[in-house]
Amino acid sequence: MALTIAPRPAGTRIAGLGHYQPPTIVTNSDIIARGVDTNDEWIRSRVGITERRFAMDETMLDMAEVASSKALANSGIGAADIDLVILATCTGQQQVPGGAATLAARLGIQTPGAYDVNAACAGFVYAVASASNAVLAGDAHNVLVVGSEKLTDYVDLFDRGTGIIFADGAGAAVVTASDKAGIGPVVWGSDGDNAAAIITDRESNTLRQEGQTVYRWATSTMGGVALEACKRAGVSPDELAAFIPHQANLRIIDLIAKKLDSASAVIARDIVTSGNTSSASIPIALSKMLERGEIASGAPILLVGFGAGLTYAGQVVLAP
Ligand code: COA
Repeated sequence: MALTIAPRPAGTRIAGLGHYQPPTIVTNSDIIARGVDTNDEWIRSRVGITERRFAMDETMLDMAEVASSKALANSGIGAADIDLVILATCTGQQQVPGGAATLAARLGIQTPGAYDVNAACAGFVYAVASASNAVLAGDAHNVLVVGSEKLTDYVDLFDRGTGIIFADGAGAAVVTASDKAGIGPVVWGSDGDNAAAIITDRESNTLRQEGQTVYRWATSTMGGVALEACKRAGVSPDELAAFIPHQANLRIIDLIAKKLDSASAVIARDIVTSGNTSSASIPIALSKMLERGEIASGAPILLVGFGAGLTYAGQVVLAP
């Protein structure tokens, strides 16, 4: 016998985005004033950050809630119509339970499917792809996708290798059905042999990374992922309105952008004032570009996330 499957839409699209960044700005001078052995010139030239945002009282879920409320409002889709919530985070407030169901309850979303994704800095792109696939399969109609991180809970703020880079924030999107494809095929993959390159130290519960290993991997691999995501979506790099790579390091962003070699794409450089917010960095940068009116509705945008695992994911989406 064959089982009945749900009716399937022709495509999916992002209907709206929102973001939240904590109000507390931490400049490079503030970091140096704490006694960290670093300097402003090194941070600007090697990483590209001038300031970042640190959450104070806000929890990871508080930030997720505000970003989600804005995404719902911008999408025109009400909480009552969301039937799946996917929360991408690697800074969960506790091991069990995951945060997605609690987030849904806080937003007044009734009995949705709800789960967390831990693909670190690639998490938002994994979550958008999973949301799109759930809608395309007919298993969900409207999906809330969130990337939210309170990295300052898991970073030694006195460590010159990580304390200068990571920051806090959240970004969210609503994925829904569409009569044409507004979310392209995902190019995703991983390199578990190098899992130790970014890892939470068990004793101190803080993040450690082999910066140069990750740098070499990202700069040698992500250009190909970017080009492949364009190819699979049937979009030339010169048709892109924007390129939003994970905001890990300005030098990495510029090297991937060079390989993409797009004559048209605005390159997201939100890291300069936001730092590295892991799974939140792509939706924050995208939401801010949309708010500033830098991307026309329906224009193609390339997203490429990469990070701990090691994991990566790239995808072209159309602007809401
Ligand atoms: N301030 C000042 N000097 C610093 C410093 C800091 N915060 N951190 C390192 N240095 C010094 C080192 O002591 C070393 O000095 P030396 O040449 O005299 O020995 C020099 O800078 C180079 O150190 P290194 O660790 O090789 O730095 P780097 O150029 O590789 O930059 C990162 C470090 C982390 C910024 C960079 O490797 C990176 O961005 N990697 C990728 C991170 C990433 O993408 N993560 C995944 C996503 S979360």
